Amino acid sequence: MSVRVIIGAQWGDEGKGKIVDLLSNRSSWVVRYQGGANAGHTLKFDGKTIVLHLIPSGIFHENTKCVIANGVVIDPEKLLQELENVRAHGATPEGRLFISSTAHVIFPFHKQLDLAKESQLTDKIGTTGRGIGPAYMLKIARMGIRMMDLLDENVLREKVTQNVVYANSLLENLYDEKPLDVESNVSAMQAYAAQLSPFICNTAALLHDALDRNETIMLEGAQGALLDIDHGTYPFVTSSSPTSGGACTGSGIPPTRIEKVMGITKAYCTRVGNGPFPTELFDETGEELRSRGGEFGATTGRPRRCGWLDLVALRYACRINGVNELALTKIDVLNDMEEIKVCTAYKVNGEETLEFPLSINTFDHIEPVYRTFKGWKSYDSNPENRADLPETMQTYLAFIEEYLNVSVVILSTGPGRTETMELQEL
Ligand code: IMP
Repeated sequence: MSVRVIIGAQWGDEGKGKIVDLLSNRSSWVVRYQGGANAGHTLKFDGKTIVLHLIPSGIFHENTKCVIANGVVIDPEKLLQELENVRAHGATPEGRLFISSTAHVIFPFHKQLDLAKESQLTDKIGTTGRGIGPAYMLKIARMGIRMMDLLDENVLREKVTQNVVYANSLLENLYDEKPLDVESNVSAMQAYAAQLSPFICNTAALLHDALDRNETIMLEGAQGALLDIDHGTYPFVTSSSPTSGGACTGSGIPPTRIEKVMGITKAYCTRVGNGPFPTELFDETGEELRSRGGEFGATTGRPRRCGWLDLVALRYACRINGVNELALTKIDVLNDMEEIKVCTAYKVNGEETLEFPLSINTFDHIEPVYRTFKGWKSYDSNPENRADLPETMQTYLAFIEEYLNVSVVILSTGPGRTETMELQEL
């Protein structure tokens, strides 16, 4: 097995950090391929909790090399803070972290634009305010500033000037905000660039050489399939491609080299920010899921919206990503519940369908169709085998697998590194 993509199969926050951390020490390379510091991947080990936003979770495994690839948008200030944090927790990034010279850079003006646009919207997206949308917008408009541009003062000043003039025209004329100045954007970045330059290189070439040596590569998606710019609940999405297709464009690894796509899903659903969520619960069960699951955003601290597992949405995510293995996380959050529901179809205007809607308006008319399972009592959180799990949980797992036609290969039974069952050889 040499190349595996790991994707969030819901609206993000599925517990990818933990799964990537688990598989990292079996990979020579861990690669982030999209998104930016909007992501928050929480790792818990040795009594410590660490949240990573940009650096791949593999950084804590000393034999693993980590790549922040071309598809990521990088906030240098945040990245430097994170480097300091991982060093303080014992990791050595030197010689092990590689940053793509063609990844785009997030400047303060991107964040300013993000916040200004959000504040004017009636139907707010609920962005993280990290400048993600404007950075990708200017990338696609071919005005973006890339990591390599930070290393040449003249190029940097020229590009920042072009961008700030553009940003100011929006800020002043459209959003009624104060204009920004070029110099402060340039000088801050130059200081950051000096510290980041040893890490900047051609990461696609590094990965191609690794492929030639048949080394194991894991591509780590951020956010989730339903937040994908093309396939998600547009416009309530992020501005990149968290789906497995994005792993190719975002890293330079060709589709013909990808063997496994692991979808990560919680045993229930959460969403942070606005947008459709057919199985959302507004009652005390929703509240219970939030408090038991500690469902508060790792990046913004916002309470997450909670609801039952939505198999219609998950089937769609499996299909658009080509998921051929599933990791089911946070099953322990459902312990001791009398009843557990999963959504097996949507009723739209009286008709049942398994199709995930493409129009945002259709979501207003969805009535989820549920199947109810008997809950299970708490159990030994480190069971050896699937057969040691409570019978009702085994029934629940088998139903999900049959519905999706994908096997659950990892079951996460708690937040710690050891609270993880591998149900199949990986
Ligand atoms: P943006 O990515 O900051 O532009 O935010 C767009 C939408 O994606 C908002 O609804 C955010 O809450 C959501 N979002 C962005 N990053 C994450 C994440 O890592 N987990 C969950 N939701 C996210």
